Amino acid sequence: MRAIITGIGHFVPEQRLTNADLEKMVDTNDEWITSRTGIKERRILEKDKGTSYMAVQAAKMILEQKHISADEIDLILLATITPDLMVPSAASIVQKELGANHCWGFDINGGCTGFLYALATGAQFIETGRHKKILVIGADKMSSILNYQDRNTCIIFGDGAGAALLEPSTDNDLGIHDFEMHLDGVGVQYLCVEAGGSLRPATHETVDKKMHFLYQDGKTVFKHAVIGMSDVSKRIVDKHHLSGKDIKLLIPHQANYRIIDAVAKKLDLAPEQIVINIEKYGNTTAGTIPIAMSEAYQQQRMKKGDWILLSAFGAGFTWGSMLLKWAMD
Ligand code: UT7
Repeated sequence: MRAIITGIGHFVPEQRLTNADLEKMVDTNDEWITSRTGIKERRILEKDKGTSYMAVQAAKMILEQKHISADEIDLILLATITPDLMVPSAASIVQKELGANHCWGFDINGGCTGFLYALATGAQFIETGRHKKILVIGADKMSSILNYQDRNTCIIFGDGAGAALLEPSTDNDLGIHDFEMHLDGVGVQYLCVEAGGSLRPATHETVDKKMHFLYQDGKTVFKHAVIGMSDVSKRIVDKHHLSGKDIKLLIPHQANYRIIDAVAKKLDLAPEQIVINIEKYGNTTAGTIPIAMSEAYQQQRMKKGDWILLSAFGAGFTWGSMLLKWAMD
């Protein structure tokens, strides 16, 4: 039995932070940001709301689309690196807000690959026959861990959430066919939030040293991302005796259009085969793939039976690809 995506939704906050706005905050400019990343603007969630707020909105879109009650959900998997609280999980808050009274759930910290980690995890619970309806959410309020005086990071990231509903397929050809996921701790030092965890709990010193903000060595992460995402994407396509022309859409993590371009070149994909929305939202970490998938669905860019390739790279390092046959009309 395969797991299929039967519902998809997303939420982005109203407030826009444009490149022109950032020019007033740090030493940067629209030309640099656009040419190096492809980003024009990103969305910023209100200060008094947490990641779970966006996750709930994305999940509600699915419940309304499918006309199902939250009580039918068996499991909530929430991929995030910016949970509302250190304890308990943001999944707990989502459960309460949705009123999903017959489920269990937890957060998954897979960085920018988090949504793929969560989809792969959810697929296992469907394939075993254990669960029938799993909400898989990717959501991050990156503005909560950004230093808006650090031009290396604040120009890249934004806030947003996306969600997918996983159910068992009755047609064995549709759904998640395969995934290949990786984890390599060599990446810890290049993309991290140094304080606030058990190693360095919050102190006045950690706050003064801005150690609760995201640190990124962009160049190093970039190199690993290009190789990691390109190789894993090519491998999974080859493994299934497919080629670029068989893939209807590549829905990649949106970190930098140059990384996406490298993956597309490796697979020999045409522009119309790639979903890119980085110009509107920047990098929403675990949110990028489900937001892009939801928008592509709204734009009717895929139909039942199409091969869809997902690919991501992020903090850890984490990276991976997933190959699925689209199952929604
Ligand atoms: O999603 C999780 C994984 N993350 C990623 O995949 C991100 C991967 N990294 C990247 O996307 C890119 O490395 C960045 C967009 C972060 C940076 O682009 P880059 O082409 O690697 O630039 P760089 O860091 O090598 O900096 C090039 C120059 C430097 O100046 P010098 O030393 O050449 O004079 C930087 O100081 O650009 C300067 N610079 C900036 N200039 C204007 C760095 N940031 C900025 C900025 N505005 N925001």
